[in-house]
Amino acid sequence: MAARNILIGGGTGFIGKNLGELLIANGYNVMNVARMPGTSNISWSKLELSGLPTRTCAVINLAGQQFMDFTKSWTPGFKQNVQNSRIYTTKALAKAINQSKDKPKVFVLVTGVGAYEPSERNKYDESSPTTGIDFFSRLTVEWEKAACVDPPVRLVIIRSGVVLGRWGGMIKNMFVPFYLGFGGRIGSGKQYLPWIHIDDLTGLIKFAVENDNVQGVLNGVSPKVITNEEFTQSFAKALRRPAFLPVPESVLNFLLNSERAMLMTKGQYVIPKRVLEYGFKYRYENIEDACQEFAHLCPKKHPLK
Ligand SMILES: NC(=O)c1ccc[n+]([C@@H]2O[C@H](COP(=O)([O-])OP(=O)(O)OC[C@H]3O[C@@H](n4cnc5c(N)ncnc54)[C@H](OP(=O)(O)O)[C@@H]3O)[C@@H](O)[C@H]2O)c1
Repeated sequence: MAARNILIGGGTGFIGKNLGELLIANGYNVMNVARMPGTSNISWSKLELSGLPTRTCAVINLAGQQFMDFTKSWTPGFKQNVQNSRIYTTKALAKAINQSKDKPKVFVLVTGVGAYEPSERNKYDESSPTTGIDFFSRLTVEWEKAACVDPPVRLVIIRSGVVLGRWGGMIKNMFVPFYLGFGGRIGSGKQYLPWIHIDDLTGLIKFAVENDNVQGVLNGVSPKVITNEEFTQSFAKALRRPAFLPVPESVLNFLLNSERAMLMTKGQYVIPKRVLEYGFKYRYENIEDACQEFAHLCPKKHPLK
């Protein structure tokens, strides 16, 4: 019988829980590599000592200290944690794959569109250069380099846009102010907002696992490119609330540190050229449809329970 075990680094987070649900519903057994014990978890030290669980068909890495943890200041120590939690976990999984006798078919790493330099003019597809001039693009270059697996294991790197879903990431942080009618664009609102609905990102990861021809870099973004202002209006409209209170860029720079705030104040025009060439079908191409799905205070479906 074909191996159906999938190992997910950082599978306990927002993307990981949604992905785990999808994979389990499709007949896979899912194990997480996590820092805390749990029924479906193994530790990073157990991975290093014992290697991959037997009959693992795919390995996925989603581990990483959240950039937007507002309880943590943007100190050199925190930045190092942001970096190490991605690079060391990716290296640990790649090493376990390379040392495994019973190799998985594929290693999927989810990184970010921060690989591309923020710009209001440039358009990026997967063949565009990663410039490495700001903290996030430098981090992404190192992070992707760490995913060094030997053939025949396929390597798929998904450079994800902001992942939109009710129970995590940006929407979780913004939901209450927008619901109370205190929402608004960020800065001028003209900056691009590369985005993907959580169901499309998890669907794309499953697509990468199951299709043997898929490899290399994929831009994990919706093909319909929007600005921050367009997102703001769509989200507020779906919630039936006004969104007239812009957040000045200077306030975010002061509160978050300009280096971190650039994730919200700047953006990139990113096209998922290779994703479309492979024939992946999105469920939510339009931001209006995506917002309709998650703009509910208590939706029926709560995947994180
Ligand atoms: N959410 C987005 O909009 C978005 C967009 C682009 C890229 N990404 C990337 O996708 C990945 C997953 O994102 P997510 O939204 O699911 O994040 P998340 O909810 O914060 O989950 C990340 C997981 O990483 C593990 N982790 C956190 N700090 C760690 C550390 N210091 N060392 C080792 N593991 C650590 C945690 O697992 P344990 O506590 O169980 O160890 C956590 O569950 C991240 O690398 C993120 O940068 C996310």
